[in-house]
Amino acid sequence: MPTRINPSILAADFANLERELGRIASADLVHVDIMDNHFVPNLTFGPPVVERLLQVSPLPFDVHLMIENPERWAPGYAEAGAFSVTFHAEASPDPVALARRLRSIGARAGIALKPGTDVEPYLELLAEFDQVLVMTVEPGFGGQRFMASTMPKLSRLADAVRSSGLDVWLQVDGGITEETIVIAAEAGANTFVAGSSVFNAADPAEQIARLRAAADEHTHAH
Ligand code: DX5
Ligand code: ZN
Repeated sequence: MPTRINPSILAADFANLERELGRIASADLVHVDIMDNHFVPNLTFGPPVVERLLQVSPLPFDVHLMIENPERWAPGYAEAGAFSVTFHAEASPDPVALARRLRSIGARAGIALKPGTDVEPYLELLAEFDQVLVMTVEPGFGGQRFMASTMPKLSRLADAVRSSGLDVWLQVDGGITEETIVIAAEAGANTFVAGSSVFNAADPAEQIARLRAAADEHTHAH
């Protein structure tokens, strides 16, 4: 099972995003955090910025929508060419319908769960999603501490994915460092978002390699 490292450009230099994208070209996907100041108490950017960044990015985009009313906005990101679009379970009245819509446009469909959201209702819906994102911090801000209390949820998901035989990526996001990535890999994650740990490093490419090595060493042979 391959390890994927997705740096979050929330921690990048917003005055030099094209250059910042070039510094993480050895990663797998670019994690793009969209916040609307309603679903979370913070605001980033929207479709025009993502569309333009896609034109200059060496890597495909893993879009994470922390917004209300994803039914209104998520398809636009898929149409713009995002490789994957992940919306929050807490914000969607019909996650299966939205995931089907995203897949029909050609994007991978992801569902995200805040730390307090129960995973149980989604275990039987795994076939509808390409990725489940287990938030390891409260969404809204970079640079927060990893919440190990979310790991049992990840283990439940990893067991369910394994017994289903489906290829659903299990992503963690928030507080991922060389230390915490080991905990998440052992619990069954295979797709790791890292913002500050990558962009605050002197050499982001070296940090990506260190994160990848740490995760690979602790990934279960599924
Ligand atoms: C938080 C965002 C994360 C954030 C992670 O709400 O979804 O993607 O950028 O940042 P770090 O890795 O600094 O916790
Ligand atoms: Zn994110």
